[in-house]
Amino acid sequence: MILGIETSCDETAAALIDADGNILASVVASQDELHARFGGVVPEIASRRHLELVTPVIRQALADAGARLDDLDAVGVTTQPGLIGALLVGVSAAKALAWARRLPLISVNHLHGHVASLYLRPLDLEPPFTCLLASGGHTMVLDVQDRGGYRVLGTTLDDAAGEAFDKGARLLGLGYPGGKEIDALARQGDPTAYSFPVARVPGLDFSFSGLKTSLLYKVRDLSPTELEMRRADLAAGYQRAIVRALVGRVEAVAAGGPIAVVGGVAANSELRAALPGATLAPLSLCTDNAAMIASAARYTAPVPYPGYLSLDARSTA
Ligand code: KG4
Ligand code: ZN
Repeated sequence: MILGIETSCDETAAALIDADGNILASVVASQDELHARFGGVVPEIASRRHLELVTPVIRQALADAGARLDDLDAVGVTTQPGLIGALLVGVSAAKALAWARRLPLISVNHLHGHVASLYLRPLDLEPPFTCLLASGGHTMVLDVQDRGGYRVLGTTLDDAAGEAFDKGARLLGLGYPGGKEIDALARQGDPTAYSFPVARVPGLDFSFSGLKTSLLYKVRDLSPTELEMRRADLAAGYQRAIVRALVGRVEAVAAGGPIAVVGGVAANSELRAALPGATLAPLSLCTDNAAMIASAARYTAPVPYPGYLSLDARSTA
């Protein structure tokens, strides 16, 4: 049984999976409400909240699975990339638990975790596939040949897709996090009412900053009453442009081969509908969770005791 711990951003999460990749428990304590009034994650507030929540969340995961700490075979924890203070809370908790029972510790890259959300049962996806990873912090097209890792083929040159959703939502006067809000509002809007630019960057990369600027100008030209009336159309057009950019890129890279989509933005309903042949991460595993971290741990070499006591968190990948 592997315990996974995730504290890289604003979700405090713990999960237990078995040796076959079945989820026995997955607990996610979201800090969304805490950060909403600031319109984004405040790193110091996130770290403090992780500190309060990490032990209760682990206890809850054990209770949900009917397991005890003695049942664990290994502890997997996100060590990078993310907010450094937030990561350190999870890493310290993982070290303490592993050390107390002389268990191996597995250092997991958060992005590998997102990809590994596809390896959990019942999905249990087998590589090779081309993977679109779209989250609040990253937007990448990956070549996945085996479960142990991936090769980055393209990445965003500026904002991540989730970040574009969040910033767009803010311009439209919607709440945080914005992806879900735009997704809901876009359903009531006409995606063709406004035209948004789909950036053409050379190679396999993405760019979303021009799109955001385009929305800014459109919003600026409207009076508050007009904005009220056109908000759904703007959301629909903006979302369509992001989805087009993502789908166009991943389909071009995959060239007819299998496609998978992971990360918070993989929860987007238009994106899911636009890739009918693709394997989509289950909705509960799109946004940050610890089951995906435990899953990645299955395919990562453990650090034996006591070497992991000097293991550090890193803010970059
Ligand atoms: O993977 P995730 O939980 O955290 C990171 O690793 O960044 O992704 C969070 C991102 C946020 O930007 C959020 O707005 C976006 O995923 N998101 C969505 C949807 N649900 C969450 N974006 C578009 N449509 C959604 N339904
Ligand atoms: Zn994530």
